[in-house]
Amino acid sequence: MSTALNEPSNQTLIEHYRSLLNSHGDTFEAAQYSSRASQEARYDILVQVADLQGARVMDFGCGTGHLATYLKERGVDCQYTGIDIVEDFFPYARAKHPDHRFGRWEDFEGERFDYIFVSGVFNNRMPDNEAFFTNTVKRLFERCDGALSFNAMSTWVDFQDPGLWYIAPEKVFAFLKTLTPYITLRNDYVVKRMPVPFEFAAYAYRAPLVAGPEETEEPAA
Ligand SMILES: C[S@@+](CC[C@H](N)C(=O)[O-])C[C@H]1O[C@@H](n2cnc3c(N)ncnc32)[C@H](O)[C@@H]1O
Repeated sequence: MSTALNEPSNQTLIEHYRSLLNSHGDTFEAAQYSSRASQEARYDILVQVADLQGARVMDFGCGTGHLATYLKERGVDCQYTGIDIVEDFFPYARAKHPDHRFGRWEDFEGERFDYIFVSGVFNNRMPDNEAFFTNTVKRLFERCDGALSFNAMSTWVDFQDPGLWYIAPEKVFAFLKTLTPYITLRNDYVVKRMPVPFEFAAYAYRAPLVAGPEETEEPAA
């Protein structure tokens, strides 16, 4: 990811989020959501990956640290690190969360995390969406000791916004299988009152969530 930071598509993306921040200030709108409720509905799903109490948490594409606020409001005391490509977000994030760290990917080179969250980061259409998605997921999972939890827009919809990027959940499942055998795919929720879920979430675990029973040699009855 660090090598891709100066690509033209990233400059466009940085300008896009800067402009949202300038227009809307530190709000859900600067993070490109239509409401705080829908932003937090996504968090509600992603954080179900595990108990985050005391965990080393990375929020990749953290914006102004809304996930950190969400966790704090729910009494989750974790070691949170927020990473973003848009440095303009950091002063807002640091002012709200002086006890947490915020910076660019390069600032935390080599560090490991228990849980890594990625919400809304894959949604903007770019020239190289699929490469960005696979490269990002792969490199984040390498840094993960517990699980990677992320969302993306699903192709299982009746309308696609031309400015957004969609991927088939089954394709994501197949790709994650190249990284780990232990996967949860969630397409059982909506973030707005509508019948068709237009996004899905995935948890990629290092170890099985359900360990399975220990096999013991029982004498035949
Ligand atoms: C839709 S916003 C979501 C923000 C936050 N995750 C949330 O859910 O409130 C996407 C965020 O991802 C960041 N982002 C996009 N591409 C990135 C990259 N290559 N590296 C780091 N951050 C990136 C954007 O700057 C923006 O803050």
